[in-house]
Amino acid sequence: MSDVVAERIIVALDVGSKEEVETALNRLPSVKFVKVGMELFFSTGPDLVRSLKDRGLKVFVDLKVHDIPNTAAGAMRSLSRLGCDLLNLHCSGGLEMMQRAQEAVSEPTKLIGVTQLTSTNQTILNEQLGIPGTVEASVLNYAKLAKQAGLAGVVCSPLEVTALKEACGPDFLAITPGVRPQGSASQDQKRTMTPAEAIRAGSDYLVIGRPIMANSDPNGAFLKILEEIEVEA
Ligand code: C5P
Repeated sequence: MSDVVAERIIVALDVGSKEEVETALNRLPSVKFVKVGMELFFSTGPDLVRSLKDRGLKVFVDLKVHDIPNTAAGAMRSLSRLGCDLLNLHCSGGLEMMQRAQEAVSEPTKLIGVTQLTSTNQTILNEQLGIPGTVEASVLNYAKLAKQAGLAGVVCSPLEVTALKEACGPDFLAITPGVRPQGSASQDQKRTMTPAEAIRAGSDYLVIGRPIMANSDPNGAFLKILEEIEVEA
C-alpha cells in the first residue's frame, strides 16, 4: 500500500471526545490523514490537533470560518500554528477575506475554500440566499474567486469536480465529501460517487466518515477503499 494513495483518504473523526478519538485511531492503524470538525474541535480544543500531529497524522481542521478579513485572518493564523495540513473558510466572505487569510497561513498549511454547502439546493440558493442562477454556477464563481485569492483549492461535491478542474485548472485542489463505497448506505449524503469514480473524476482528496468509522472493521473498510482507488490513482 502506498502512503501517497493512503494520504488521499481523509477520515472524518466525527466523534465528540478525545477518548472516542483514541478508540477510533487504535482501530485504524493504516490511516494517515484525519479531519477534525466543529463538534470535536469545540469539545476538545487545539490540544487534540497537536496530539494528532504528534502521532504523525496529517490533519484537516474543518471549522468553515466566516468573518471580517481581520478576524478570519487571525483565526487562520492561530490554527496554522498548530501545524494543520488543511484549513478552510467560506468563500462567501469575499476576496479580501480570503486573501488576508491566505497571507496568515504558513507551511505546511494549505487553505481551502467552502463554496456552497452540499445542503444548499437550488431553492435555498435562489429564494433564501438571494443568489440567482444554478448551484453549480455559484460553486464555480466562488472557486474562481478562491483561486484569485491564492487559496489551494475548494471543498465540493464529486459531481462538480470535472467542471471545477476545467474552470480553475488541474492543480487547484478538489476535496470531496459525499463519497460512498459500493454497497454502503448513502445516509444523508444525496449526490454521491464511489471512491474510484471520485478519483477518476479528478478529486485530490476524499473525505469519508461513516463508511469507515461506523464499520465493524474500520481498518478493513479503509484498506478496501484504498485497494479500489489504487487502481485509478
Ligand atoms: O460520514 P460521511 O462520509 O457522510 O462524512 C462526511 C464528512 O464530510 C462529514 O464530516 C461532513 O460534515 C463533511 N462534509 C460534507 N459535505 C460538505 C462539507 C463537509 O459531508 N459539503
